[in-house]
Amino acid sequence: MIELKNVTKSFDGKNKVVSNLNLKIEKGEFVVLIGESGCGKTTTMKMINLLEKPTKGEIFIDGENVKSQDLMELRRNIGYVIQKVGLFPHMTIGENIELVPTLKKWSKEEKKARTFELLELMDLPAEDFYYRYPNELSGGQQQRIGIARALAVNPEIILMDEPFSALDPITREKLQDEMMNLQDELGKTIVFVTHDMDEALKLADKIAVIKDGEVIQFDTPEEILKNPANHFVEYFFGKDRMWKTPEMLLAKDIMKKKFGKIGVKGSPARAIEIMKERETNTLIVVDREGEKKQKPVGVVTRNMIMKNNGHSMKMKEIMASSEDFIIDENTNMVEVLNIMSKINFRSIPIVNKDKLLVGAITPISLLNIITEISPSIEGGEL
Ligand SMILES: Nc1ncnc2c1ncn2[C@@H]1O[C@H](COP(=O)(O)OP(=O)(O)O)[C@@H](O)[C@H]1O
Ligand SMILES: [Mg+2]
Repeated sequence: MIELKNVTKSFDGKNKVVSNLNLKIEKGEFVVLIGESGCGKTTTMKMINLLEKPTKGEIFIDGENVKSQDLMELRRNIGYVIQKVGLFPHMTIGENIELVPTLKKWSKEEKKARTFELLELMDLPAEDFYYRYPNELSGGQQQRIGIARALAVNPEIILMDEPFSALDPITREKLQDEMMNLQDELGKTIVFVTHDMDEALKLADKIAVIKDGEVIQFDTPEEILKNPANHFVEYFFGKDRMWKTPEMLLAKDIMKKKFGKIGVKGSPARAIEIMKERETNTLIVVDREGEKKQKPVGVVTRNMIMKNNGHSMKMKEIMASSEDFIIDENTNMVEVLNIMSKINFRSIPIVNKDKLLVGAITPISLLNIITEISPSIEGGEL
């Protein structure tokens, strides 16, 4: 775990580049620091491995103050990847990756075995690449070497400062994917700096939004999109981004909590009455009317009642039984739309993990959420 406590940094003794910053990064987390250029991301990062000394405040790794750790040992145990990879041009790829293992006095065989393993992990044929020089490699390949080098002695923590920002979009996306796989596989604690929102949303378990050296919000991508801490965060991430990532919107974010319903023992005539009162054509049918805890059993519409000439029939015989279309509250919007497109009525029950009714989604609730998050759609495209 990495913990920054009230960390402040100023270079000239006056202006605070980082100001009273608090951050707690759990073991195995992929945390992205994001913010505009000059907001203090790199400085924050460099203080973690003491490339910069905090002016005030403390930094702990696994509970131990970094100040009391041996500096060389600290740096060797934290992998560091930067935008300009910083490979030594006169050293082979193998020698570059083996820098820290060499400092740690690993044997030749140990080093080579590890480097081969890392090259394969980075999808670079080891037999070939081990002996080549950096300038014979493409930008993306060089960046892979940079990552391999950072992983060489298997550090628990990896700091990455805009590692992919100089790459073309396709290579960049490929490396992002590889980084995510790597994280799944190796479970490292990763602190990753970027100024690219899409990159942050894609990679992060948690995002720290930094402005003027302060953390404005530290949360999961979902929470940042749904509940931006203030206008800056909202502006920074863009409201319509949510619409671009509908898989982050869940049924419980969209559903209405007030909607028409009727007990399964209620008569069709009464259903029509409730529909009139509520100015709706659709009711959720529940197992027990008037109770606090209810389970949905179906949906009934005015058409179903009329078509069956159903005034004398039982609700159960008329309604659409909900077995096929009940939606769990954590279902994402893409799936919700998918299910809604398969049914021919306009209200769908949402349940919690105990199968109890917690809400309903209607086309109106969908429309509401869409206009709320996507001002650009208001012009009548729907
Ligand atoms: N060694 C330094 N000496 C003086 N000012 C610095 C130094 N390093 C960074 N700064 C200043 O600190 C601020 C934050 O820089 P930095 O952490 O690199 O921002 P970011 O990585 O978010 O772009 C900038 O205004 C920068 O000019
Ligand atoms: Mg920077």
